[in-house]
Amino acid sequence: TPQRKKLVAGNWKMHGSRAMADKLVRDIVEDLPDGTDVLVFPPDVYLAGMVDRYGDRGLGLGAQNLSEHHVQGAFTGEISGAMLYDVGARWVLTGHSERRQYQHESDELVAKKFDSARQAGLTPILCVGETKEEHEAGQAEAVIARQLGAVLEHNSIEVFREAVIAYEPVWAIGTGLTATPEKAQKIHAFIRSQLAKKDVNISLLTRVIYGGSVKPANAAELFAQPDVDGGLIGGAALVASDFLDICAAAR
Ligand code: G3P
Repeated sequence: TPQRKKLVAGNWKMHGSRAMADKLVRDIVEDLPDGTDVLVFPPDVYLAGMVDRYGDRGLGLGAQNLSEHHVQGAFTGEISGAMLYDVGARWVLTGHSERRQYQHESDELVAKKFDSARQAGLTPILCVGETKEEHEAGQAEAVIARQLGAVLEHNSIEVFREAVIAYEPVWAIGTGLTATPEKAQKIHAFIRSQLAKKDVNISLLTRVIYGGSVKPANAAELFAQPDVDGGLIGGAALVASDFLDICAAAR
């Protein structure tokens, strides 16, 4: 079995200010752990400045969203993958549940964005996960299979040599309700089995990270599960010491 390097990513969502963003990243790069990929996803307006100031410190930087259009054009308010790459971003989130919910992003749109990311040279993190209602109706695996299936329809399995999948049960985001390590492991193994249907070797290389109320107190137990390759952190990523403790738990 190949050794998958752990990955911990901070999704800042629509939080912060220029001063706060600068201080937070400065504190994070001071204390980066060895042997773990650490990424930060600030709001786009702060991204270029951060790459300029801290881009050579071993921290990966990425965007929370991109346009599905990969050629420039008359798309007011949109930012392309090429533009993100141009300012030094190397990663991008796709399919976060907040965008699926509030921006009505469909599986198909997410698949297009994922493809656009790849074309621009960005590594996408595909977020999947069931809502509370779907969870209670026992539909978690069916929902995840559908979300992942849409991406695999538009993209070759080969992209998952690099691309990352984040399992974020919607009922666990920002609620303090974390999936138990056993429950997370079960879904992560299911996600890997879906990839294995296409290519077993690639399925063993793909990093599948967990998101949803990860805190310093529960991170180590989650990351110790065999198919949990790290975390996508929301609230706790806004406090440098908490985020760094979570990164340290990923060894
Ligand atoms: O993308 C990360 C996120 O949705 C999890 O948020 O605040 O529950 O860690 P939080």
